This record gives sequence, C-alpha cells and structure tokens, in this order.
Amino acid sequence: MNNTQIKFCDRKSEIDLYQLQELFNIAAFWAKGRSIEDMGIAIANSQPVISVRDKERLIGFARATSDGIYRATIWDVVIHPDYRGTGLGSKLVETLLSHPHMHRVERVYLMTTHQQGFYKKIGFQSNSSTTMVLYNQPNLMPTPEIQLQES
Ligand SMILES: CC(C)(COP(=O)(O)OP(=O)(O)OC[C@H]1O[C@@H](n2cnc3c(N)ncnc32)[C@H](O)[C@@H]1OP(=O)(O)O)[C@@H](O)C(=O)NCCC(=O)NCCS
Repeated sequence: MNNTQIKFCDRKSEIDLYQLQELFNIAAFWAKGRSIEDMGIAIANSQPVISVRDKERLIGFARATSDGIYRATIWDVVIHPDYRGTGLGSKLVETLLSHPHMHRVERVYLMTTHQQGFYKKIGFQSNSSTTMVLYNQPNLMPTPEIQLQES
C-alpha cells in the first residue's frame, strides 16, 4: 500500500454509492444489505461526510449528524480490512471531528459494539448512563398533526 495515494474528502458528490455498498457489505456488520437509495438519503441528511480513497477505490467512510454547536453523533465509521492498522481509522475520525460543522460541538456521541478501545485512543469516554433508543415501529406511532416546512 502506498499511503501517498490516499486522499480524504468531504465532498458528498464524490462518493460512489456502489463502492460504499460493497465496503459496508465487506466490513460493516451493522450496515450490510443497505440499498443504494437509502444510503443516498442518509448521506444527503448527514454533515459532514468523509470518504477515503486510494486512487479511485473507496477504502474508508464516516459520517456525522450535527447541529454544528451543541450535539453531534458519529455514524458508519469503516476502513477496508486491507488498509487497517496503519492509522487511517484514527485519521478518518479526526478529520470528521475537525470539520467546520463539528469542531465547535460541545458533545459528540457515538455507538459502538466492539471498538471501544479504538475510540478511547482518540479521546472518547464510555457513557452508559445517558443513552436510550427507540426502534421505529411506524404502525404503532400516532401521527401528530404538524405543519411541515416546505424544503
Ligand atoms: C475501527 C476501525 C475503523 C479502525 O481502523 P484502523 O485504520 O485499523 O485504525 P488505526 O490504525 O487508526 O488505529 C488507531 C489505534 O487504535 C488501535 N485500535 C484499532 N482498533 C482497536 C480496537 N478494536 N481496540 C483497541 N485498539 C484498537 C490501533 O492499534 C491503533 O493504536 P496505536 O495508535 O497505538 O497504534 C477498523 O478496524 C474498522 O473499520 N473496523 C470495522 C468497522 C467498525 O467496527 N467500525 C467502528 C464502528 S463503531
């Protein structure tokens, strides 16, 4: 592997969704089988989105949802197995954190099943007391009457 060819990029338009789908299928157990259409929605609604390429090959990805100042959450951090263990994963997360939409944020959250050690090296701390989850069950949720803003 020649590290000088590896580029980090925050332009969503440069992400090849078919390559991203393949990367997730190979290397992200929680994101296997995601459709191209749904990944496009997730990327459109995330900011920042960072991709890592070796020439034309997508070898890393991470995204966040952020209000730019108070709270942000990091999602879908992945480095291709052939490229792990050389510092790219930590550089990927640091690139995400230093992005203008993230670097002033007071608290950055993430969920991880197996990679606590990796994130601890970057400075994250365990946080078991504040997180809850709602699994979306559209048929059980009443639809409140709200006026949607036209986008
Ligand atoms: C987690 C992941 C992104 C790390 O990428 P990577 O490029 O191998 O990470 P780096 O080489 O930058 O590692 C940085 C440091 O963390 C350490 N590290 C990596 N994974 C670790 C783990 N699971 N536990 C403890 N330390 C870990 C490395 O040894 C390295 O330590 P050093 O700085 O002392 O050398 C990569 O393993 C991956 O894509 N895994 C599968 C997807 C995944 O689980 N993503 C996280 C979802 S929350």
